[in-house]
Amino acid sequence: MGHANDSARPLFRHIPMASPYHSPDIENAVISVLQSGRLIQGQKVTDFENALAKYLGCKHVIAVSSGTTALHLAFLALGVKPGDEVITTPFSFVSSANAILYCGATPVFVDIDPKTFNINPSLVEQSITPRTVGIEPVHLYGQPAEMDAIEAIAKKHGLFIVEDAAQAIGAEYKSRKIGTIGDITCFSTYTTKNLHTMEGGLLATSDDEIAERLRRLRNIGQERKYNHTLIGYNYRMTEVAAAIGIEQVELIDSFSDLRRANAAYVTRELRPLEREGITLPYVAPHSKHVFHQYTVMIDANKTGLTRDALASTLKTFGVETGMHYPSPIYAQPCFEGRFDSFRQSCPVTEEACNSVLSLPIHPGLIEKDLEHIVEAFITSLNKSV
Ligand SMILES: Cc1ncc(COP(=O)(O)O)c(C=O)c1O
Repeated sequence: MGHANDSARPLFRHIPMASPYHSPDIENAVISVLQSGRLIQGQKVTDFENALAKYLGCKHVIAVSSGTTALHLAFLALGVKPGDEVITTPFSFVSSANAILYCGATPVFVDIDPKTFNINPSLVEQSITPRTVGIEPVHLYGQPAEMDAIEAIAKKHGLFIVEDAAQAIGAEYKSRKIGTIGDITCFSTYTTKNLHTMEGGLLATSDDEIAERLRRLRNIGQERKYNHTLIGYNYRMTEVAAAIGIEQVELIDSFSDLRRANAAYVTRELRPLEREGITLPYVAPHSKHVFHQYTVMIDANKTGLTRDALASTLKTFGVETGMHYPSPIYAQPCFEGRFDSFRQSCPVTEEACNSVLSLPIHPGLIEKDLEHIVEAFITSLNKSV
């Protein structure tokens, strides 16, 4: 950590946005994998998948190379093809939409709920067309989307549900674990995620046929060696990645508890700023939020400071921040204006992109870090509370 200085203001203390977990057990596990000579998709991957299936309470977990490849395989396994439409949120990481596009299908963006930042279910039905095949909610920041409403719409219109739970391992919706609700749930185990394997992804499903297709698709379509029954991909997970992941499965809940406790502390300390143009994270009463991100909104008119200026000032105090996300997916330059019509239909997303700021909340933080984050935030806004 940087140099803490309790007596002088302003303080500097380097606080990163994430602190990927490691331990002597992980180091030993990695070394023994390397020594074993079996480096790709062996027993460690199987053990990791089984441990996660038990933890999530689903029948199958299929480990892959990233959250992005997990989403791609989910849509492929469900038969998504050119001409199809999948309804999703524009307020997410670009992979949520790219995975649909990889299949030649079209993402249809529906605006978000201003409190949870998740897809607004009351706007979904009006976007359904004869080409719609599925809904992809994203459990943004680790807070579940409104799954009851989404399930009801999917059932009524015969649509599949693929959940993008890249940020939400361990989260629950009305006491149902994320990973047990939709047809397929995809997680990311990228370095910064609540459970990490450096790079990696997971698919959870309780459908035997889908699971079998996913297993083949991730391994170049092989049913058995050199017998390729599907045109698949090399999206396998390495044994090293799985060895790193296995050590964290039993820690998921305690990490989530720490994240929630850190979030509760910051919320308590910043609560007085709500009158001054800072919106603190909302937690739906039925949600078990795992706080992958702790994201506030800055009303620049009230604070007199833009989100970007606040982020820059916090950086001078050593506090890293994130913007999740500074641009709606439909406005990304790679789409060259193809989705511009959504600029009008997604005003809540537009506003969120201009005002969200994520603060560090990871389990590696100690009390002094949290105190510093709060103090730096208040000082940056030049408020005394
Ligand atoms: C919501 C969301 N979807 C998909 C992904 C893609 O996961 P990965 O980076 O593992 O490919 C991420 C990762 O950042 C994400 O946050």
